[in-house]
Amino acid sequence: MQPETLFRAIFAHRGASAYAPENTMAAFRSALSSRADGIELDVHLSADHQIVVIHDDDVSRTTNGQGKVHALTLEELRRLDAGQGEVIPTLLDVLELIGDQMFLNIELKRFSGSAAYLPEKVTQLVNELDLNSKVIYSSFDPMLLIRTRRSDPQAKCGLLLLEDGFGTAVRLLVSTFIKPWSLHPHYSSVSHKYLQRARLRGQAVITYTVNQPEEMQRLFNLGLQGIITDDPVQAIEVRNTL
Ligand code: G3P
Ligand code: MG
Repeated sequence: MQPETLFRAIFAHRGASAYAPENTMAAFRSALSSRADGIELDVHLSADHQIVVIHDDDVSRTTNGQGKVHALTLEELRRLDAGQGEVIPTLLDVLELIGDQMFLNIELKRFSGSAAYLPEKVTQLVNELDLNSKVIYSSFDPMLLIRTRRSDPQAKCGLLLLEDGFGTAVRLLVSTFIKPWSLHPHYSSVSHKYLQRARLRGQAVITYTVNQPEEMQRLFNLGLQGIITDDPVQAIEVRNTL
């Protein structure tokens, strides 16, 4: 897939997290029915090396439990309430729901004790389900992307960037080894010039986390490849007015 394949695409952040508890099946079903173009979700490994969909490395913010994700088995994680009676899904649950109906941005989190096999396990699962053409792997950690690419040479890798200048420079430098398919900057970094430079390098730009309609409009007008938003319904409304 070429970067130009995506244009003003809308990715539902942690599912449609404005409407349902983040990173739950309810949020992914809501994203699907909103007709967003894709979903973004975050993955960690459980103590028994299952790929689970949760943002933090600790369960306490988003569930009624306590403890590190990598210290709990899938069975223990499944017993927790992730909000409104939802449970923590596995990546397989989500891939089976979404299939090839939407793009999937899988963010590899790095604060997991079992992070050692995260990229390898995720690429293996995606390829087993033949969903490679729909998936963009992203991470703030360029080393995880390097390992993703090593595990699957066809993988589309997106480098996540913070606002801060030094960290961004280091990440860009390390990632030159893999030439990321896309850059995923904070939306405040994205300008006409930013997009021009990315276009010259043949890279897509997918920016996070855009929740104000004015910002959505500004970014869509710049003509970037995609935005990541908690509220895909609002983003679609804004895009329809352009
Ligand atoms: O992938 C975009 C965004 O999700 C990155 O930040 O903390 O929401 O995972 P975070
Ligand atoms: Mg994320």
